[in-house]
Amino acid sequence: MSKKYLLTTALAYTNGPLHLGHARSTYIPADIMKKYLKLKGKDVIHVGGTDNHGVPITLTAEKEGVKPEDIVNKYHNEIKRDLDNLNVEFDSYGKTHSDIHIETAQEFYKKLKENGYIYEKDIEQFYCPKCDRFLADRYVEGTCPFCGGEARGDHCEVCGRHLEPTELINPYCINCNTTPELRKTTHRFFKLSALSDDLRKYVESSDMPEHVKNMAYSWIKELHDWDISRDIKWGVPIPDSENQVMYVWLEAPIGYISFTKQLGDVWKDYWLKKDKNENDSDVKIWHFIGKDITVHHSVFWPGMLIANGDYNLPSSVISGGYLTLEGRKMSTSKKWVVWVDDFVKYFDSDYLRYFLMVNAPLNRDCDFSFDEFQKRINTELIAIIGNFTHRALVFSHRKFKAIPVVDEDSLKEEDKELINKCKETVEKVDKHIMEFNFKDAIMDIMHLAKEGNNYFQKMEPWTVEDEGRLKEILYTCAVVVKYIVYLLYPFMPNKTMKLLDLM
Ligand code: 2FM
Ligand code: ZN
Repeated sequence: MSKKYLLTTALAYTNGPLHLGHARSTYIPADIMKKYLKLKGKDVIHVGGTDNHGVPITLTAEKEGVKPEDIVNKYHNEIKRDLDNLNVEFDSYGKTHSDIHIETAQEFYKKLKENGYIYEKDIEQFYCPKCDRFLADRYVEGTCPFCGGEARGDHCEVCGRHLEPTELINPYCINCNTTPELRKTTHRFFKLSALSDDLRKYVESSDMPEHVKNMAYSWIKELHDWDISRDIKWGVPIPDSENQVMYVWLEAPIGYISFTKQLGDVWKDYWLKKDKNENDSDVKIWHFIGKDITVHHSVFWPGMLIANGDYNLPSSVISGGYLTLEGRKMSTSKKWVVWVDDFVKYFDSDYLRYFLMVNAPLNRDCDFSFDEFQKRINTELIAIIGNFTHRALVFSHRKFKAIPVVDEDSLKEEDKELINKCKETVEKVDKHIMEFNFKDAIMDIMHLAKEGNNYFQKMEPWTVEDEGRLKEILYTCAVVVKYIVYLLYPFMPNKTMKLLDLM
C-alpha cells in the first residue's frame, strides 16, 4: 500500500510573533519536506496551528491588561501571517482554544482514565493569600535550590534545571510579591512510569534519528508520573474536576489530532489504528520541532498515545537545532532577535529559506549573521545558480525567442553526459531530503549548476555558427535549468516558479 505522510509542526505559543529561530528549527524544514513529497506525487498533509493555553499566555494577557482570548487571537493571526510570508503551506491550521480541540482533548483524557492511566493524589502547592489563587508554574518565582540563580516557577533561568515550584527558596507571587503559603489540592497524575517498557520498545522500532533516540532512552530510564492538572481557569477543563484545567503539555500535542479532524473524515486514515495492537505501517507521522521540546515529542506524547491505544504513533521526531544571531543566543526578552515580519519587508523569503538550510545541518545549531547572509546569497545563489540559469535562458531567448527543441538521441556525448548528471543529482538529492539532510541536498543542486556553468563556458555558444549544434547546446542547458528548478522548488518556491514561468 502506498504511504501516507502526516507532517506536523510544533504549535507556537500565542504570546508573540515568529522569529527566525522558529522558522529555522521547525517550519521551513517541514514545508520543504511537504513540498518535496507533493512534487513526488505522495499523499502528504501538513497540519499545524497555535498553542493557546498555558501560563505564558495568561501572563502576557495580564501584563497587557487584556483577556487571554484577545492575546490569543492577536498572535494567532500574526503567526499565520508570518508563516504565509515564509511560504509555509498548511492543509489544516487550528487553535487549541477551539471547540474541536477542547472536545478532542477531553475525549482523549477520558480514554486515558478508562484505561487506568489517571489517578488522583493530594499534593501541596503554593497559594497566594493576597491574590487568592494557586500559583501554577510561572506565577511563582524565587531562588534555584541548586545553583542560587533566579528561577521562574518550574525552570531555573541560570542552570536550566527543571524544578518543582515548591522547591524554590524565597518564593514570591509574581503579581503582588507576597510570600505564598503551601495549600493542599487534589491533582490528577498520568501514570507515565508504567510505560517504560512500552516506550523503550517503541523508540527502538521508530525511525527517530540516533541522537533523538538516545535522549529518549535517558528519560525513559527514570520516568516519573506526570502531574497533569493545574489550578487555573485558562485551559482545557478536566472533565472530572470542577475547577482545574489540563497541564498545557498534556493537551497541546492532542492538537495534532484535533487539527487533522478539521479536514473531515480523512483524519481517521492518518490517525486511527486499523489493528488495535499495531501501528499502521503505511502511515508516517513526522513531528517537526525545535530541539528544546524533543523529550515531549519522543517520550511524553508517545506515552500518552500508547496509554490511549486508539491512535498511530509518530514514526519520527525531527528536531532542529537552535539559531544564534550574530554569534549570540537569541532572546526575545533581551530584544536580541529578528522577527520574520521585519525580515520579509527587506528580503525575499526564498533567500531566508535557502540560507537557513544551507548554513548548517538541521540537527546542529546554526548562526545567522547579516554578513554571512549577504555573502552566501551573492557568492553562491546569485553567482552560481542565478548566473547559470540566467545565461542559459537569456541566450536561448536572444537567439531563438524560445528554448530550442531537439531530438535527444542526436545529442553529442558531452551533452548526454551532462543530462545524466542531472538524473544522478535527482537520486542524490532524493536520498538527502528523505534523510532530512537539506544542506547536502542544496550542495548537490549547487554542484549541478556549477557543471552547467562549466559546460556553457566550454561550449562557448556565442562562437557556434552551426544552428543545429547551437540548438543542441542550448537545449542541453535548458534541461539542466529544468532539473535545477524542480529540485530547488521545495527550498525556493518563489524564485523557481518565476523561472518556470519564464521557460
Ligand atoms: O514549546 C512550545 O512553543 C510549545 N507551544 C510547543 C507545543 S508543540 C505541541 F506539542 F503542541
Ligand atoms: Zn499575589
